[in-house]
Amino acid sequence: MSHTRQNIERRRFDTLVIGAGGGGLRAAVQMSQADASVAVVSKVFPTRSHTVAAQGGINAALANVLPDNWHWHMYDTVKGSDYLGDQDAIEYMCRTASRLVVELEHFGVPFSRLDNGKIYQRPFGGQSQNFGGDQAARTCAAADRTGHAILHSLFQQNIKAKTHFFDEYFAIDLLKDKEGYILGALVMCIETGEPLIIEAKTTLIATGGAGQMYRTNTNAHINTGDGMGMALRAGIPLQDMEFIQFHPTGVAGKGMLITEGARGEGGYLLNGDGERFMERYAPHAKDLASRDVVSRSIYTEIKEGRGCGPNKDYVMLKLDHLGEATLRQRLPGIYDMVKTFMHIDAAKEPVPIYPTAHYTMGGIPTNRDGQVVVPERQGEEIVPGLYAAGECACVSVHGANRLGGNSLLDIIVFGRAAGNHIIEYLSENRFHRPIDEDSITAAMDHMARWDRKGDGESVDSLRADLQKTMEDYNGVFRSEALMAEGVEKLLEIQERMQHVTLKDHSRVFNTARIEAFELENLVDIALAAATSALARQESRGAHSRIDYPERDDERWMKHSLYFKEGRKLEYKPVRMKPKSVAAFPPKPRVY
Ligand code: FUM
Repeated sequence: MSHTRQNIERRRFDTLVIGAGGGGLRAAVQMSQADASVAVVSKVFPTRSHTVAAQGGINAALANVLPDNWHWHMYDTVKGSDYLGDQDAIEYMCRTASRLVVELEHFGVPFSRLDNGKIYQRPFGGQSQNFGGDQAARTCAAADRTGHAILHSLFQQNIKAKTHFFDEYFAIDLLKDKEGYILGALVMCIETGEPLIIEAKTTLIATGGAGQMYRTNTNAHINTGDGMGMALRAGIPLQDMEFIQFHPTGVAGKGMLITEGARGEGGYLLNGDGERFMERYAPHAKDLASRDVVSRSIYTEIKEGRGCGPNKDYVMLKLDHLGEATLRQRLPGIYDMVKTFMHIDAAKEPVPIYPTAHYTMGGIPTNRDGQVVVPERQGEEIVPGLYAAGECACVSVHGANRLGGNSLLDIIVFGRAAGNHIIEYLSENRFHRPIDEDSITAAMDHMARWDRKGDGESVDSLRADLQKTMEDYNGVFRSEALMAEGVEKLLEIQERMQHVTLKDHSRVFNTARIEAFELENLVDIALAAATSALARQESRGAHSRIDYPERDDERWMKHSLYFKEGRKLEYKPVRMKPKSVAAFPPKPRVY
């Protein structure tokens, strides 16, 4: 059927949530329980969202295993962020953590237990007691399937609260009025290929990260940054996109995640000489230094010829000394995965690992209530009706480097905060505003792009080129010349994107069409990341430049903002003032 604006099906809700991972579902449950009508749009069945893959756990200073408090957690997070995290947001997240983990327990999350019945907590990287002292144990775990447990519980709570799910619908573009209010989105039913307009008084983007811009990554195939792409097309900048986290322990050559919990349980890294090399790089924290530090150390060992295997291109994660019983109890998913995919019994031999792209620290700029904010002449202005939460957002609690276990916490804390603010917004904005018809036309034109026939290269081959370019030019270590070449290559890829064509133009469950939309998003986001990285002339957190090896607080203690139009960059200050405690001033970061 050919569509005009008039004959597209429309549905109305108080609020639209795009993405059914932990951030989206935590917000949705809050709002549905408050009797708002909530639509959740997800391109996969909700429990297949990427939160399901989170392994090691969620941070909260419950002090169930070792002494702890939220202020130490805050210190570690600020330090882990290499002082680029906004301290008021970090303070809020760490203060709220314990209450929300207990709430998750009440939602039904089957956390692992200590002998005394309390929630099990394990040590994770970058955690300390007493502001940089001994290792803390702050990560609350359900074995090594914590994300799975949380996502399923949140889904069940949403079913109970009568959230309306649009499963296997792909969000094309945001819709707005002439005053800039965001009023829902044009989405496409994947099963039928038909468009649907969802009108809503508020829209929350919770679409996760964009790890698929790298060839080797820990992410699900669905992590293509669709919400970030939509935001860019709507004129909203992306913040701090130069900071991409490489998780130290991906399965070598494959990239699948081996949880940091493996080192938290006592595993450690060995180089080709059998040396426990992290003792040299981080004498105090060793294998539980923060991820940027451990990834760089592994990379350096390999580059200097101390790797393992015939090509010396990986290092080993030693777990066998933990014993099969512990592995089966605490790391059952890892134990199985390594056996299935690598034919290695981790209770008997070490596992080859290599750093792998894992997490996007940057994203859609938001305030602490999840409202999307954009720069204006005198500071920031709110985009009315638009919210973002989770990995697609940048609030910013992770700054230049996220601590393990703070990602699940981020989605729960800021998903809830966005939900709360939306409830308040709805009480003051009771009526639907009419959507500007031009906005619908623009979104429909975008959707129609992939109806065009032609003979150009395929989505698959361009996607492979994009992923290789990001891996080769925007990896763990970076330099001006390398990144400049990378940006040129990405611009060529962007140009080639115009000519990409689809062979399959059928409507019903045309996943090739979905992959084309995803690739558009990935290309825009890769350019945001590469452009922001090239501009930042310092090393901070995960952005490590061999030509500017030091952090430069005088010039670069600021957040980047990348705009799609003109590939323009602006900057805004880091918020250094917490509300209830003194700020942690920047100092050299040692572990
Ligand atoms: O290593 C992990 O289990 C990953 C956790 C995280 O990224 O927070």
